[in-house]
Amino acid sequence: MATAAPNRTLPWSWYSDPAVLELEQASIFGRSWQYAAHTGEVAEPGSYVATRAGAIPVVVVRDGEGVLRAFVNVCRHRGSIVCDGAGRRETLQCPYHAWTYGLDGSLVAAPRSDREPGFDAGALGLIPVQVDSWGPFVFVNPDLDGPPLVEQLGELPALLAADGLDVDALVFHTRAEAEYDANWKVCAENYLECYHCSVAHPSFSKAIDVAADAYTLETRPSLLSQFGSARNGGGGVYDASGEIPRGQFHLLFPNTALNVMPGRPNLSIGPIVPLSAERTYRYLDYFFAPGTDPGWIDDYTELDNQVGAEDRVLVERVHAGMRAGVVGHGALLPVSERLIADFQGLIASALAR
Ligand code: FES
Ligand SMILES: [Fe+2]
Repeated sequence: MATAAPNRTLPWSWYSDPAVLELEQASIFGRSWQYAAHTGEVAEPGSYVATRAGAIPVVVVRDGEGVLRAFVNVCRHRGSIVCDGAGRRETLQCPYHAWTYGLDGSLVAAPRSDREPGFDAGALGLIPVQVDSWGPFVFVNPDLDGPPLVEQLGELPALLAADGLDVDALVFHTRAEAEYDANWKVCAENYLECYHCSVAHPSFSKAIDVAADAYTLETRPSLLSQFGSARNGGGGVYDASGEIPRGQFHLLFPNTALNVMPGRPNLSIGPIVPLSAERTYRYLDYFFAPGTDPGWIDDYTELDNQVGAEDRVLVERVHAGMRAGVVGHGALLPVSERLIADFQGLIASALAR
């Protein structure tokens, strides 16, 4: 048991300063793998989905040969966003002046460009970004020189497989979206500790054993993980009996949250996206094993929505307190909140690079 005094947090000014977010966009979001879509959104050749990596608009496409590709979703002409939503097309056409890109990103048509001497279409293709998938999950990384996805995932696939979860067998069910008046790191840090669970999440704490000795925290390179077992088959909140013996809650650094609850095969995954230094967008894509009882999914979703509503209040109150500018930093419990310390260490070292 560690006996160290509480650790200082990062300076609280880092949670509302637009200059810090600008640094984070460049040194963290511009250089890491982030959950961007599920494979069902780009299942057929010619399908595309507009998504993002931090502040960078990204479009993921499946080309005519079935290969996943991704590009910065910004027109090389005058900068319009090219694609919205999702769909299926032979080409990607910008709605402003109809510059048209192939599914390989190349500029294939620009009206009147034949009248412009020296127009070099070859130099004006969409800018590529890295894209890869793991099971039904699509990730992008704006950094073309960054390591492959499998390296950033590290032991995550093995941790899920060890508990009997076959991600390839999961089926997409729903997406839930939310926005918060809080810095993205407040949302991530709230996710990274269950010290608040017994205080603030009574239903979750009935379902999962959140006691300090039962609920475990583990850190691996770029993976911050929590594990908790069902309490009495779910404590009556939902039926936690089934193939999956325990809950797993992972933050794949910097911003992909991945949750598995005990019970039937299930998983939710999604990014924590800064919209500004003081506003955050999140979504979670929910997956279940094919044929999972809809009543079970309803009970599970009700618990998840309850926890989400409770967390909204927590993070917005924390953000309001931090941004008051009166207190310079906070204190972390070295044991119960060590994943937050590890997260803040990753942030600080990324910003120092
Ligand atoms: S900005 Fe896209 S065609 Fe002009
Ligand atoms: Fe919470």
